[in-house]
Formats: sequence, structure tokens, C-alpha cells
Amino acid sequence: MPAAPAADLNDVVAIVTGAASGLGAAVVGRFRSRGARVVAVDLDEGVRGLESDDGVVAVVGDVSHPGTAEAAVAAALSRFGRIDVLVNNAARFLLKPLAETSLEEWDGLMTTNVRSMFLFSRAALPAMVERGGGAVVNVTSISGIVGLANQTAYGATKGAIANFTKALAIEYAPHGIRANAIAPGTIDTPFIRRPLAELPDPEAVLAGIAATHPLGRIAQPEEVADAIVFLASPAAAFITGVVLPVDGGYTAA
Ligand SMILES: NC(=O)c1ccc[n+]([C@@H]2O[C@H](COP(=O)([O-])OP(=O)(O)OC[C@H]3O[C@@H](n4cnc5c(N)ncnc54)[C@H](O)[C@@H]3O)[C@@H](O)[C@H]2O)c1
Repeated sequence: MPAAPAADLNDVVAIVTGAASGLGAAVVGRFRSRGARVVAVDLDEGVRGLESDDGVVAVVGDVSHPGTAEAAVAAALSRFGRIDVLVNNAARFLLKPLAETSLEEWDGLMTTNVRSMFLFSRAALPAMVERGGGAVVNVTSISGIVGLANQTAYGATKGAIANFTKALAIEYAPHGIRANAIAPGTIDTPFIRRPLAELPDPEAVLAGIAATHPLGRIAQPEEVADAIVFLASPAAAFITGVVLPVDGGYTAA
């Protein structure tokens, strides 16, 4: 894995949701290695473990509750004095045929995956507008670009996130605020390991999934995190409204 560039984001303050695990935890690590300070948000109390580092404040809460977004913004402003970046990453997964999907499951996915983006963006953007700039990076999925069986509910949330991002980019461009999304292929995190663990031969299924990605493997969280940090950084200053596949060629095929 190539090393991340040296600390060059010392002035940056980022809010990262879903920070206790997988991709979100890798994003926090990549931001910290480049000097950015982070408000790390998660439902999982384990996110508090990140606070052993002075540059991280943890907020425990459900991202679909308005109070969690407000607490994250308040933590960023009171502890670090500013907000430059919002990474909307927290999400739930559901691998189920449409006919077996309950209304509660549908609503739960919409609430966690989509309402959270609305709440966190609405709460964080005023501070960026006041500063005259900022960057939002939303995490969608290849499931939001192509149709995948047993992912009607999950795919609908990820498609919504892709278009939410484009509309946000247009609306906030006059304020110097960029909004982009990344669409990962399969990443080796608990998100994918959990449902696979219920199958008789998870490793064989994982090998099959890897083979559907033209690069012949699934991603490590850090290499997807690098794409998020790139889109959040000044290196992407003229990029907005983009849904960037980080998928080993999955959606190019
Ligand atoms: N892993 C994959 O193969 C894959 C592929 C494409 C896209 N993604 C996307 O990447 C993002 C990160 O997924 P991951 O693979 O790191 O998953 P993960 O399960 O490892 O981490 C997700 C984190 O989000 C938190 N979270 C979930 N619901 C929450 C809520 N309501 N409030 C607060 N926190 C909540 C969880 O506690 C967890 O820490 C998600 O948006 C997911 O849709 C993942």
C-alpha cells in the first residue's frame, strides 16, 4: 500500500460519520496522518477509542437523529473552531429480495443512509458558508450506479445519495463549497464480512465477488479512504458534482 502524502492538511477540520469501523475508521486515520483534525461520529461506543489522539473528538449517536448532527457540528466548532470537510459515510446494508423486504427495513435503510446526509449537510454547511468554502464527500456505492439483485432497498438509498450530491454541488458552488461522492466496489470491512459470515463458505463467496471486479480483488479500506481524502483536499479544488467509482473497474465493464 503506498504511503499517504506528508501532513499538509493541518488547518483542516473534518466531520466523519461511521468512524468506528471499516472505511470511516480508515478515513480518520488518513486525515490524521495528514494533520487534519476530526470529529468522529458513530452509533458504536467504540468510536471513543479514537479520542486517545488529541486531534480527534468522538460523538456517539445515531446519524439519522437531528441531535447527532447538531452535536457533531457543535463539537467541531467548540473544540477546533471551524468545519472544512464533511464525510457522510455511515450506512447500513441489506441483501434481500424485494418481496422479503419489510417496510421497517426499507424505512430503516432510507433513514440511516439518506436522511443522515440531509441532516448532517444541513447542520454543517452554514459554518462552511460563513468561512467561504468547504468540501462534502458522500459515500455511495456501485449499487447506486448499476442495478444489483437483492439490493433494491440498499441500491435505492445509494442512488439517492448520488443525486443528492450533484444537487448539493450545484446549490453550494456559489459559496465555494464542493460536493462529491465516491462509489466503492466491494471493500474488505465488517459491512461485507457480516452478511457473508452467515453463508456456508464465506471465503468462496468472497473470491467470487473479487472476480467480478476487473482488477480481480476487493479493496482495502485505506485505498478507498485515500480517494475520499483526495476529494476533500485542495488537490481536488476544481472537482465538484462528481460520483467517482473506486471499484477496481466494476462499473467500467
Ligand atoms: N464494504 C463494502 O463493500 C462497501 C461497498 C460500497 C459502499 N460501501 C459504503 O461504505 C460506507 C462505509 O461502510 P463500511 O464498509 O466501512 O461499513 P462498516 O459496517 O465497517 O462501518 C459502518 C459504520 O457506520 C456506523 N453506523 C451504521 N449505522 C449508523 C447510524 N445509524 N448512526 C451512526 N453510525 C452508524 C456503524 O456503527 C459502523 O461503525 C457505507 O456508506 C457503505 O454503504 C461499503
